[in-house]
Amino acid sequence: MKTVILSICLCLILSGCEEVGQSASDLSFVYLTFSQENTSDHIVFNIHSNRETESVTVHLDTLPQGGQFSNYQIHQTGRYEDYKLIKRRVHRVTVNHLAPGTRYYYVVEKDGKALDVERFFETLPQDTDEIRFVAGGDTDVGEEVALMNKAAAQTNPHFVLMGGDIAYDNGLPTSAAKWDRWLRYWQDHMKTPDGRVIPIVAAIGNHEALGGFNSSPSKAPYYYKYFEQGGKSYFRRNFSNIMGLVVLDSDHTENSEGPQRDFLTESLTHFNGLPLTAALYHVGLYPSVRDYQGSGHKKLRRLWEPVFSKFNLSMAFENHDHSLKRTHPIKNGQIDMGGTVYLVDGCWGKGPREVNDKSWYLVQAQSKRHFWLVNATKNGARLRAIGESGEVLDQTLIPSRAALVTQSHQR
Ligand SMILES: [Fe+2]
Ligand SMILES: [Fe+2]
Repeated sequence: MKTVILSICLCLILSGCEEVGQSASDLSFVYLTFSQENTSDHIVFNIHSNRETESVTVHLDTLPQGGQFSNYQIHQTGRYEDYKLIKRRVHRVTVNHLAPGTRYYYVVEKDGKALDVERFFETLPQDTDEIRFVAGGDTDVGEEVALMNKAAAQTNPHFVLMGGDIAYDNGLPTSAAKWDRWLRYWQDHMKTPDGRVIPIVAAIGNHEALGGFNSSPSKAPYYYKYFEQGGKSYFRRNFSNIMGLVVLDSDHTENSEGPQRDFLTESLTHFNGLPLTAALYHVGLYPSVRDYQGSGHKKLRRLWEPVFSKFNLSMAFENHDHSLKRTHPIKNGQIDMGGTVYLVDGCWGKGPREVNDKSWYLVQAQSKRHFWLVNATKNGARLRAIGESGEVLDQTLIPSRAALVTQSHQR
């Protein structure tokens, strides 16, 4: 009798797993990134597993299909990369040729089972009046991160810009559990109020690399293996007809001069016709906590600022200092209404540091955990710093680049 009851229980458990199949020993995270410049026509599914042999297929359709694999129009497989030291396999499924501004329903199949219920994302429109995004950095894995993620997702952003020092893994195999916690928070909460899954664009910080600075890609295994963004730590993204973004590596695994600086120049030349441009990176040119004369900040000002100034970069999202900051518009080392606004300073989850608010370039500096919400249009961007309780800690308007050039010429 006991054997029969045990068999029935086992059958019930197993049949339940076949519908949405994830047991405690079968770890899975699913999150979205971009691997190419045009964010309107593709998406990348990053799917974690702690087992070696398995097949993964993503099924997609523009209409809900209730999780029945064969009903979906698109069936996409990918490739995977192993991080053997921590027994982790990361599948990367890139889906190309998607329609812009379109909702796609999807279900992820692993070894014949659905990992989760049907979910959906939306491609960026090609032409639109407004894009919305959230920018921040320096999260770590404290409970505050879950709360901040929820608050960020509530603002209904198209995507999130994350500026490095993410799970504070320091490139160590022993940090696997930190990333699992971070990814759990991300997967659970980074959905808009109507359930849309939000993609992430991630820059590298010193805490992604063993040694922090002047390290190498092989010493930043989580960043390179967990985020399929084209394979490099510097790259560019185009968001609709509104904004071009350059993501940079502030001397963690790639030198800020040489090929990376050439890439920055080439990218801002490439984005010249767009209303807004932005850069996302970790160590600031204009810090709000650390010393302005620090050698790392000076080096980046010497190398990158002339390029930002030449091309009228609209905004630079900096991190690393664990504070909230916004500078005056700055061009070639001076306050200039036609210059670049440097902001953020990385305080999404980390405890805030005391700010050095006497610096000549700072309009705003606060020791406050926050993220920035950006509403960007052809005419400019509205930026608001949102605190832990949803309060607006700072706000500003940044004009379009056409207006910046006009203001600069009128001086
Ligand atoms: Fe940092
Ligand atoms: Fe940090």
